[in-house]
Amino acid sequence: MVRQVFFGPLIQTNDKEELIIQENVAVFVDDGKITSILENPKDHEREFQLERKIRDEIIVLSHGQFMMPGFIDAHTHAVQFPNLGLGYNKGLLDWLETYTFPLEKQYTDTKFAERVFEAVVKRTIKMGTTTACYFASLYADACAILAQKTAKLGQRAFIGKVNMNTPRDDGYYENTLTSVIDTIGFIKSIEIIGSPLIKPIITPRFALSCDMELMQKLAEIAKSKDIHIQSHVSENKDEIIAVKQAFPHLPSYTAVYDAAGLLTNKTVLAHGVYLEDDELTILKERGTAVIHCPSSNTNLKSGLCDVQRLKANSIKVGLGTDVSGATSYSMLNEIRSVLQVSNCLSLTRDNYTPLSYKDVFHMATLGGAKALSIDDKVGNLMIGKEFDALIIDMNAEGGLLDNFKEYTLEENFQRFIYAGDERNIVSVYVNGKKVN
Ligand code: GUN
Ligand code: FE
Repeated sequence: MVRQVFFGPLIQTNDKEELIIQENVAVFVDDGKITSILENPKDHEREFQLERKIRDEIIVLSHGQFMMPGFIDAHTHAVQFPNLGLGYNKGLLDWLETYTFPLEKQYTDTKFAERVFEAVVKRTIKMGTTTACYFASLYADACAILAQKTAKLGQRAFIGKVNMNTPRDDGYYENTLTSVIDTIGFIKSIEIIGSPLIKPIITPRFALSCDMELMQKLAEIAKSKDIHIQSHVSENKDEIIAVKQAFPHLPSYTAVYDAAGLLTNKTVLAHGVYLEDDELTILKERGTAVIHCPSSNTNLKSGLCDVQRLKANSIKVGLGTDVSGATSYSMLNEIRSVLQVSNCLSLTRDNYTPLSYKDVFHMATLGGAKALSIDDKVGNLMIGKEFDALIIDMNAEGGLLDNFKEYTLEENFQRFIYAGDERNIVSVYVNGKKVN
């Protein structure tokens, strides 16, 4: 057994979405799991000295450092990283055709997949993403490579083999049978890797790339194996019109997924910018979460998602970078996009309360864990959960921020959220293991 103890300040949110700031705690971790948390360990000197003796690893944070839960990027596309920064002159559907699909077709080349995915996992870990929910590739071999990379590099991940059976002139789709067989094969390949940190997720790309038969078959697989589901919903106005044309007998975009049986309490849907009231009712009833992707929504001019409305309707909301809709795979940057979009909404509406940085920190950590129904394991540092954590250092060498005066812990946290960057993320732990 590996026994660790971490001493220092801890900042996290709780189930009530409150920010909890503790100046001085000892977090005890046995084989990755948090077994106890002592506040003001100096007050428990005797027990503490005894415990200390049996620990394999003792990490004492220095002045200017604090612990926090790792970020959960609840929606990103591993295959799209080579397109970061490209093509934001287009709207969603044109952007997919012009930039995204041509790139994604290249992943039949497994050497290319190896190179890209190694970088994706290393880079997102460096940014503090301890859990990532990935759209992988249409091709099962490439998906298996992404799963191997996350296993090797120690990131917690959901990995989805992308499903698309709507015929296209460029051949970038598969027939229903192949889609189903390859999805089942991919799930097996994850079982063979056998890492408790890596889970498959059923991934119909969106209602425009799958027919009802395929979506129903995918929903059956998810049900029979009790696994997660992810897709996109209501991201862009032209997309919504096209979905209504493709499924004229169904009343809404959300109703299409519901008719397929895809909406469960383990389903996460990215965007949800234009959801109507009856769609919110369905999502709430099913326990399905929306993943907010504000950088992508503004880059592709999709729209401004009203997160306060989702929350007021008791919809679980997580946060996603949606690379390469986003220009950055940093969850810190994504947090800032949430705040800017929320501030913009408040400027254009009467009596609109914008989200606070505390609300958004919650969304990037425990909120994401709840959206993905893994909040029994991660999202904050509580007894019984796994130690997925970051050590932040406001004195980090080469960092963007100076310390010309003394700051309180809360001020330092606020500075990190608004103005820090990955140079301040000096350690990243997943399940107690240092992965960066
Ligand atoms: N809808 C369907 N596919 C995609 C995608 O790759 N990115 C985004 N942002 N939306 C989508
Ligand atoms: Fe996406």
